[in-house]
Amino acid sequence: MAHALADALAEVVRARRSVRRFAATPVPPAVVEAALAAACQAPSPHGRQPWRFVLLDTAPARERLAAAMGDEWRRQLMLDGDDPLVVERRLAISRERIRGAPVIVIPCLYLEELDRYPDAARTAAEHTMAVQSLGCAIQNLLLTVVAHGCDAGWMCAPLFCPDVVTATLGLDSTWLPQALIPLGYAAAEPQRRPRRPLTTLVRRIV
Ligand SMILES: Cc1cc2nc3c(=O)[nH]c(=O)nc-3n(C[C@H](O)[C@H](O)[C@H](O)COP(=O)(O)O)c2cc1C
Repeated sequence: MAHALADALAEVVRARRSVRRFAATPVPPAVVEAALAAACQAPSPHGRQPWRFVLLDTAPARERLAAAMGDEWRRQLMLDGDDPLVVERRLAISRERIRGAPVIVIPCLYLEELDRYPDAARTAAEHTMAVQSLGCAIQNLLLTVVAHGCDAGWMCAPLFCPDVVTATLGLDSTWLPQALIPLGYAAAEPQRRPRRPLTTLVRRIV
């Protein structure tokens, strides 16, 4: 029995891939709920669950977010001195990725219940633990989505405009947006990214 579970898990892990274009097919709410529940099963520092999740499962909410994030990204790219035509092309792709996904989950860090320290080093370690923990939660979410036959992507954009995300969605300022996870069914087979051989990544110390 344990073996069958390991095989099933390995299959799900291998099947996960980042999808960047989704079909319009809606994601069953039960899949979203199962994915969010799995996220909350992740390990966390002191068991404090330093995460919150924002769910955008309506078109108007996704449109609002796409527009606001697009405006901010345009401002940042223009500051970089990028060609306005290239900027508009990149913005259109990004906007479509947000608008075109049937469901979006925004994982947020929630640091309010973590231990507090008087020194910067331990404060930073506590913060890192929370980020690691949120990564685990996101991976649980991704794998569960795949196990249900759906796909997911990962956009880091909220890290570059957290205040815009917070203001647009009316989030409490203690919810710190870390990523944008679109969920749905792949519109086409994405290109798989190769992996380096294990032997180049693992060092055994005896
Ligand atoms: C923290 C993090 C941030 C990422 N940000 C983006 C992103 O902004 N846009 C994007 O297309 N993919 C993003 N990805 C997905 C990676 O590009 C992808 O996981 C990697 O290329 C490996 O491909 P795979 O997920 O299909 O195996 C991100 C992944 C992680 C873990």
